Amino acid sequence: MAERTLKLLGKVALVTGGSSGIGLASAQLMHAHGASVAIVGRDPRKLDEAAKAIGERTFGIVADVSNVSDIDHVMSTVRARHGRIDVLFANAGMSHSPTLRLVDEAAFDAMVGLNFKGVFFTCVRSLPLLSNDASIILTGSAAADMGRLGDPVYAATKAAVRSLARTLANDSELTGKRIRVNVLSPGAVKTPLTKMAYELPEVDAYVRKAIPLERWGEPEEIAKAALFLACGDSSYMTGSVLAVDGGMAQV
Ligand SMILES: NC(=O)c1ccc[n+]([C@@H]2O[C@H](COP(=O)([O-])OP(=O)(O)OC[C@H]3O[C@@H](n4cnc5c(N)ncnc54)[C@H](OP(=O)(O)O)[C@@H]3O)[C@@H](O)[C@H]2O)c1
Repeated sequence: MAERTLKLLGKVALVTGGSSGIGLASAQLMHAHGASVAIVGRDPRKLDEAAKAIGERTFGIVADVSNVSDIDHVMSTVRARHGRIDVLFANAGMSHSPTLRLVDEAAFDAMVGLNFKGVFFTCVRSLPLLSNDASIILTGSAAADMGRLGDPVYAATKAAVRSLARTLANDSELTGKRIRVNVLSPGAVKTPLTKMAYELPEVDAYVRKAIPLERWGEPEEIAKAALFLACGDSSYMTGSVLAVDGGMAQV
């Protein structure tokens, strides 16, 4: 077997939403490339199972990242364990907002609280821990490019995440430390989040029709792009959006 280059050897990666789907696949690949990985989620059982699946240099932190004091707990735990972060993957998110006229205040707050406020404070509170040449990756979505009648708040939160990436990419403290910030923008990916959709034949058919490659993505395909953004292979990229969506938002 050809010898493989470990692209994150000795690095420390923090992956929110690392116990499932895109975050889990990315944490697994980053670990396989030599990183120590801290994964964050609310459910301790899921975290334990994921940490075992990822491997020995992994630990789980129970936290709700829509809550700033929980984010502070995450950062102090990582500080105590590793003293720094080389790769921040702010990935935890959800997409279940009701349609435009049915969005109530609670649904709006929950969606914005996790997908934007959570990502915002995960980034800002991680700043003192970020090492020189660190990489920040924010999980966006093809939905940010498209009108989303069925999920309008979700689409708007993902557009906000893109704006945040551009702001951070221009911040002089970050540029001074050569910290890069990019958005990874998946389309329709088979994860527990989308299980109900891809298991419904009519939804599955509708989604496939909207994608030039005519299929859902797999979490492992998104993970490869996360690894690319995490490591030096993307050394000249910052403030950018990397679409890994089968062409969904590109047509
Ligand atoms: N799947 C897709 O088609 C798709 C497409 C575009 C973008 N995305 C984005 O990709 C990201 C990951 O989605 P996924 O499909 O991989 O979803 P997933 O399989 O449902 O995973 C979500 C992860 O986030 C964690 N999480 C959820 N709420 C949290 C909270 N309040 N605090 C901390 N952790 C929380 C979950 O663990 P707990 O439940 O235990 O907290 C889980 O680890 C999201 O930002 C999503 O918007 C997904």
